[in-house]
Amino acid sequence: MSGSAKRSVTITLDGTNKSSQLPLVEGTIGPAVADIRRIYGDLGIFTYDPGYGATAACESKITYIDGDAGVLLYRGYPIEQLAEHSTFLEVAYLLMNGDLPKPAELRGFEMGVLRHTMLHEQIRQFYNGFRRDAHPMAVMCGVVGALSAFYHDSLDINNPEHRRISAFRLIAKMPTIAAWAHKYNSGQPFMYPRNDLGYAENFLHMFNAVPTEPYKVNPILAKAMDLIMILHADHEQNASTSTVRLSGSTGANPFACIAAGIASLWGPAHGGANEAVLKMLAEIGHVRNIPEFLSEVKDKGSHTKLMGFGHRVYKNYDPRAKIIQKACHDVLGELGIKDDPLLDLAMELEKIALNDKYFVDRKLYPNVDFYSGIILKAMGFPTSMFTALFAVSRTVGWISQWSEMIEDPEQRIGRPRQVYTGPTQRDYVPPGRR
Ligand code: ACO
Repeated sequence: MSGSAKRSVTITLDGTNKSSQLPLVEGTIGPAVADIRRIYGDLGIFTYDPGYGATAACESKITYIDGDAGVLLYRGYPIEQLAEHSTFLEVAYLLMNGDLPKPAELRGFEMGVLRHTMLHEQIRQFYNGFRRDAHPMAVMCGVVGALSAFYHDSLDINNPEHRRISAFRLIAKMPTIAAWAHKYNSGQPFMYPRNDLGYAENFLHMFNAVPTEPYKVNPILAKAMDLIMILHADHEQNASTSTVRLSGSTGANPFACIAAGIASLWGPAHGGANEAVLKMLAEIGHVRNIPEFLSEVKDKGSHTKLMGFGHRVYKNYDPRAKIIQKACHDVLGELGIKDDPLLDLAMELEKIALNDKYFVDRKLYPNVDFYSGIILKAMGFPTSMFTALFAVSRTVGWISQWSEMIEDPEQRIGRPRQVYTGPTQRDYVPPGRR
């Protein structure tokens, strides 16, 4: 690890004279971490942290979150500044390379992504294997995993050029894969990518256009799409990114690792929350039903959650939620959607929840998914596409984190330990004597 250990923490095992001095490793910002690698050797014990709430699994230079202050930095740059001034592909360059590009570097990078948007023609056949009503995330898990069967020329993870080519391929082809998942659902012809369009524009083209008439991408929607992609591009060691790193730690190829990340993102506690928010709002139906719904949420036996609220790290507010809330109002305004009942319901729900003791005591605030679903719905996306869009944006973060891991000299296979509470050793009993 790059940090120097000037401080340490000493743990003593009760009832023995054994102790372990653990070096404290300081990052550039954020809490120091105790390097516990010697604890088993010194004391014969492991540490226990289900859900990894207090465990740093890696060193990273990519994204920083201060959950109490509501800060999110990509390579040191505040998300608010990037959302206002940057573009998704510039952010992608930043996440992958560490610094903002010079104009010529950005042009080269954009060219590298925008010229690799086509899928191998045989990949088209994969779609026919799915049911017409297949969820786009199911299609994406399958098709992205299958890319490893098509690009044998870039699968050597120890070759930096192979890693670079795979990263470009993944970022470039993901919008095509997602847009085609939708076209397959709706029974419309697949639209091929257009290399003269920007990244978000091209996605909207492949998603909305049909071959029978000209289609012009609405610049308001393209700008909103680009912003949504920036906000979702990376989020340090969340569940899906940790899944990508864990899969990658075994030496699996990047296409397989990103497919694993997509599977992890799908769950409603993670990226699937944007879809779940819309389902929840539809179920609540009307502002007058909010109190009854919130009573159900507070009932421990119900397993009902206020979707789009709460976050493992943000305990004050999610800065992405603030940006997207404003964008949501702007987009609805620009599209001429004046009174959106869903948005009204969401805002009332937010207001009531933010003043409710249950949510205040637990520091539960709206996260990015609370508003992203509403804006995506206004832009014409079916709810089943919401998490797929998240996956398109997060691919940049996943591949940046995967590359960082492969290049880390301390990288080893990820292999957590456990506290075993099952039966102790016992002898096999033949069926007749049980
Ligand atoms: N609704 C109701 N209660 C909640 C919610 C919620 N959305 N979130 C947390 N709580 C409660 C928990 O029941 C727990 O209560 P308790 O102390 O009485 O037992 C307390 O708040 C602490 O919550 P944890 O479950 O410990 O929080 P954790 O960090 O494990 O979970 C998570 C975070 C998964 C995001 C959770 O808040 C949640 O399920 N939220 C809804 C789903 C969601 O919006 N996910 C998107 C996350 S952002 C993203 O992935 C892009």
